[in-house]
Amino acid sequence: MSDLTGPDELLTEVLARYDDAPNERLKIVMQAAIRHLHEFVREVDLTRDEWMAGIQFLTATGQICSDTRQEYILMSDTLGVSTLVEMLNYSPTEGTTENTVLGPFYAAGSPERANGESMLDDEDPGDEVVVRGRITDPDGNPLAGVVLDCWQSNTDGWYQVQQVDGQSDFNLRGIYRTDDDGRYEIRTVRPGKYPIPHDGPVGSLLKANNRGWMRPGHLHTWVKHPGYKELITHIFDRKSDHLYDDAVFGVRESLIVDFTPDESGELAATFDFVLDPA
Ligand code: BEZ
Ligand code: FE
Repeated sequence: MSDLTGPDELLTEVLARYDDAPNERLKIVMQAAIRHLHEFVREVDLTRDEWMAGIQFLTATGQICSDTRQEYILMSDTLGVSTLVEMLNYSPTEGTTENTVLGPFYAAGSPERANGESMLDDEDPGDEVVVRGRITDPDGNPLAGVVLDCWQSNTDGWYQVQQVDGQSDFNLRGIYRTDDDGRYEIRTVRPGKYPIPHDGPVGSLLKANNRGWMRPGHLHTWVKHPGYKELITHIFDRKSDHLYDDAVFGVRESLIVDFTPDESGELAATFDFVLDPA
């Protein structure tokens, strides 16, 4: 062990304790995390009280987690880390559809819906809308039988999984499949903007920093087709508030659509997906 005469010597010694880690990747991750953590503490000249406040924040974040609440993911979302991980891991090839965060409100087991069928099963005061388009490969060839697993909030901004006693089992959830021309058509309601859960430590931290907790209205899609990368993305409504201050940094310009009256007078948006070969 070297003489721990100061922060530099301390960092060298801490890093050295990881030199023999049998898992090379774990060693790289741990040593980088430690380097950045020490640098952060030194940069802000962290006080003891601030260190304790951080410990208490992390403790509260863990304590509020449950089977249905993941406050650490929410923390990652609001710090832009979830989006960064998505950007690095999906990295769409030029010309293919961009991805974004999954979010906590996906539920497996949605019912199959026919093209054109509405996934709105409950009363809702909002605008009924249609989202339609084609799904192709990067050369523009239609892909048939592509699975689009969809979910969204109602006009008041609630997902079915947040209101299991207040909404029907599969309200605003459904699985659509493209036809032989690669076409799909989803009838639904204009998705409502909504607050991310903000009654816990993440909400307190947003508030302390004068940050908002709203997300703009969007339709989630999880697109699956053999031979292509699974695409988890959203389609955003240009009319929604919060496109430019989304609490979780999920918006991409290429994912924003306009709902305008179509030939039959329905409010409709076209969104074409281009899947990225696996
Ligand atoms: C969502 O889009 O459902 C969502 C994403 C991140 C945090 C909270 C909600
Ligand atoms: Fe959402």
